[in-house]
Amino acid sequence: MDEVVLVTGAAGKIGRFLRPRLARPGRFLRLLDVAEIPPAAPGEAVETLRADVTDPAAMRAACAGAAAVVHLGGIPHEAGWADVLRVNIDGTRTVLEAARLASVPRVVLASSNHAVGFHPIADAPVPDYLFPRPDTYYGVSKAAGEALGSLYHDRHGMHVLCARIGTCEEEPPDRRGLATWLSPGDCARLFEALLTAPDPGFRVVWGASANTRGVFDLTEARALGYRPEDDAERHAAALAAAPPERERPYVGGPFTD
Ligand SMILES: NC(=O)c1ccc[n+]([C@@H]2O[C@H](COP(=O)([O-])OP(=O)(O)OC[C@H]3O[C@@H](n4cnc5c(N)ncnc54)[C@H](O)[C@@H]3O)[C@@H](O)[C@H]2O)c1
Repeated sequence: MDEVVLVTGAAGKIGRFLRPRLARPGRFLRLLDVAEIPPAAPGEAVETLRADVTDPAAMRAACAGAAAVVHLGGIPHEAGWADVLRVNIDGTRTVLEAARLASVPRVVLASSNHAVGFHPIADAPVPDYLFPRPDTYYGVSKAAGEALGSLYHDRHGMHVLCARIGTCEEEPPDRRGLATWLSPGDCARLFEALLTAPDPGFRVVWGASANTRGVFDLTEARALGYRPEDDAERHAAALAAAPPERERPYVGGPFTD
């Protein structure tokens, strides 16, 4: 029987990057979002579900029989506290609890550089397992997600892997992106490593490509099998022509303004 991987937030940017790239013989992707997701193409081993990550019953049903959950669904930027609390923090707890009740052994959480956004960037490479220093309520929600992941690992033995993603876009959007970019291909390589590393326990890794100007330490990600192939440097010339950006001394860049 095919291994089922549930992907929340599958209609979003990273979800769309991962959909074709996580396809494997013997794997079936269960794609979930509150927004509409394009249905399975002929021969594509996917199903789509319209559900909210804050709905315990829906998430319990979505987790049934899954070998792993990739949790991307939520608000990916700063927002009001009530929304951040409901969707990102309570939603992540709901996903982890649903996974526990359905005996899903592994959950991969989309964390963010903004969980540690107020750390100075001068001391690059910015190490793995940096203590939370959020730059926004959004960053607080990502630190809370990591803490929840740690709890579900220690208390329930679930494997939980948190990726502190830098800037995951088709191309680096600005000069900061030359340091923080995670290409779509490397994003899939990272998530594949997090889905397949044997007996990982609880881990927090940086999510970035092998950028010449990279600031994030990829040691822990590499230890789990991640082998980045892209480098933002090939976009440097194009970005040199872009308007100058204000230099920010912190990991979180403009989120720290
Ligand atoms: N793209 C990046 O550079 C980046 C960087 C750091 C972290 N992340 C994290 O990665 C994840 C995916 O980011 P993205 O860039 O694809 O964002 P996105 O906004 O494109 O995708 C998020 C998806 O989550 C869905 N969603 C929102 N609320 C939901 C709910 N209550 N229930 C179910 N689905 C819900 C949205 O409909 C959307 O399709 C997010 O958790 C984000 O915080 C992204």
